[in-house]
Amino acid sequence: MNDKELVAFEAAKLAKSGMVIGLGTGSTANYFIEHLAKRQADEGLKISTVASSTISAMKAKSCGLKVVSIAQLKRIDLYVDGADEITHNLSLLKGRGQDLVMEKLLAKAADQFIVVADKSKLVSRIGEKFIIPIEVIPSAWQMVKHQLEKHGAQGDIRLNAGKDNVAISAHGSYVLDMQFPANIYDEALNTLLNNTPGIVEHGVFYGIASQVLIADNGNIEVMSA
Ligand code: 5RP
Repeated sequence: MNDKELVAFEAAKLAKSGMVIGLGTGSTANYFIEHLAKRQADEGLKISTVASSTISAMKAKSCGLKVVSIAQLKRIDLYVDGADEITHNLSLLKGRGQDLVMEKLLAKAADQFIVVADKSKLVSRIGEKFIIPIEVIPSAWQMVKHQLEKHGAQGDIRLNAGKDNVAISAHGSYVLDMQFPANIYDEALNTLLNNTPGIVEHGVFYGIASQVLIADNGNIEVMSA
């Protein structure tokens, strides 16, 4: 097992019969889906899942998991997902893809939000390696960009893969990919983005993770909130 699969396998052990389990998006989340499905098949676990993306819902169904709509749920028991960056105080950067609205909804709705990643995701500051994805109401993208530039941010609207139009997120938003000055840390960044009108959601997950499982060459470190 590689490190991503190892932490996903460990997280799948947290599933219990009767649980509603949220499925993240990405390669590590895919391993979690596979191991969850294996436990269901091997042990007869009675679980329902809810997916953070269409691709994860497709994967879960193809593995034999029952997938329910988020619209039917008020809360969930467990959410397991990867991350692009993780700090030692369990702040995360997520949403390199286009599904962060659903990812944050499920992470907040879960009694337990478990992050699974390999050691390459550890950083000392959110924004150290990746740009911050920010989903905006389409008509407001220029105003939001201008507001963020006043705080020293630099970046632009995300284009689609063919670079011939703007990218549209799974939620129907435009996405700004922004870089912030190195002296703006996770808490301040989260507050700024939460308080800027026109932003639908952003990739900074501050104070949400319950636990992070980090794998490093076959060993797992557990970081708790
Ligand atoms: C998608 C995410 C993923 O969890 C993040 O990009 C990590 O992906 P991977 O597990 O493939 O390294 O936030 O929106």
